[in-house]
Amino acid sequence: MKSAPKTFHVKSFGCQMNVYDGERMAELMAANGLTHTDDASAADLVVLNTCHIRERATEKVYSDIGRIRKEARRDHGNDPMIAIAGCVAQAEGAEIVARAKIDIVVGPQAYHNLPALVGQAARGEAALDTDMPVLSKFGQLPARRKVGPSAFLTVQEGCDKFCTYCVVPYTRGAEVSRPFAGIVDEARALVDAGAREITLLGQNVNAWDDGGRGLHDLIADLDRIPGLARIRYTTSHPNDMRDGLIRAHAEVEALMPFLHLPVQSGSSRILKAMNRSHTRDSYLRLLDRVRAARPDIALSGDFIVGFPGETEQDFEDTLSLVAEVGYAQAYSFKYSPRPGTPAADMPDQIAPEIMDERLQRLQAALNRDQQAFNAHTVGRTCDVLIERRGKLPGQMLGKSPWLQSVHLLTDAAIGDIVTVDLTRADPNSMAGVERVAVAA
Ligand code: SAH
Ligand code: SF4
Ligand code: F3S
Repeated sequence: MKSAPKTFHVKSFGCQMNVYDGERMAELMAANGLTHTDDASAADLVVLNTCHIRERATEKVYSDIGRIRKEARRDHGNDPMIAIAGCVAQAEGAEIVARAKIDIVVGPQAYHNLPALVGQAARGEAALDTDMPVLSKFGQLPARRKVGPSAFLTVQEGCDKFCTYCVVPYTRGAEVSRPFAGIVDEARALVDAGAREITLLGQNVNAWDDGGRGLHDLIADLDRIPGLARIRYTTSHPNDMRDGLIRAHAEVEALMPFLHLPVQSGSSRILKAMNRSHTRDSYLRLLDRVRAARPDIALSGDFIVGFPGETEQDFEDTLSLVAEVGYAQAYSFKYSPRPGTPAADMPDQIAPEIMDERLQRLQAALNRDQQAFNAHTVGRTCDVLIERRGKLPGQMLGKSPWLQSVHLLTDAAIGDIVTVDLTRADPNSMAGVERVAVAA
């Protein structure tokens, strides 16, 4: 039995929705009188907010548990209470307790119950909650108080798409949209707490719907909040990209010219086996429409190489799609068979060496396009939202509308938006020079 914790540390893995959940869990524990510490090994309660998407992500949780326990014992003579939250908690539940002697297991839809679970664990009772009550957590979390200039706001949860490789429909549950009013209230609170930019989050954020009103209607309402300068959204599914949202990219100035639209593969045969329900062609035609609405839009994507049955020709179709699109940035992964998903039992699983080789070729192509995109923006003038201090004296780091990291020398403060000439493309960021307003 462990005594009631006084300090806590939350560590999030995986996607931005987990980052958002991690922030909300931290706010919840602080509202319950616990003090946050940056040092995981010094905390009485460590919350690991986990990701189940690929095998490596899941294994990392178990190695982290071991490392934190060892460091806590060595450096502080401490045996912290450990809570596993997030998608591994949902997928593995009681198995984790058995495998790693965890005190608390709490799923992504149940973390509003964390304080009660901590109380149970402190009394030596089993503390496991992987229920999936629809959206009830949002009504039970404390209000947002202090956030950085760029904040996340989850508006949609879960997924009904059942791509044959993916665990998300099992770990996050069915697709549900948060109601309009609660989102607008939270957005206002975020702006009052310091946000200038809000990124709307959902596993399929563009499927957001409240009584027939779509994401573009929500964006139009958020656009009216004074002080909110920038709106972004992620992740979108090609099949939910409706006309209204495409039009919003032409009409709403605060909606940033950036679209993360995962395609996964450039081969329609593989897309069918993945149950993606879009084809190579329908995806490319969709991007034509997006570009017609917003010619300078920066495109981003996700790719999986080595899906079962992927031939060299299928993979070359992915490379040719990449060349045709010219992504500003992208994420690419080796296929990882996940327990319980249909693809894990498909024939023709691809050998690891072939996956390695394809991933290298794909990443070389994506890097080439990212450099080309960045080079193409040199000479442009744009707004930069200042997010943090750089390493050099007087240097600040921020983001361009196209989500590039920009470094510049400026007197501006965190949260300011400054006009910047982009002067150079470095490997991972852009150099910029602030435009100084000249008095007339
Ligand atoms: N909802 C989003 C993505 C969610 S998961 C969408 O549909 O696009 C984020 C990314 O992880 C996916 O886009 C996919 O590229 C990757 N991914 C998901 N399952 C995977 C698996 N089993 N192996 C490798 N990558 C996977
Ligand atoms: Fe996973 Fe597909 Fe749903 Fe995205 S759309 S979360 S890849 S099942
Ligand atoms: Fe991972 Fe769950 Fe997000 S599996 S990618 S943390 S939805």
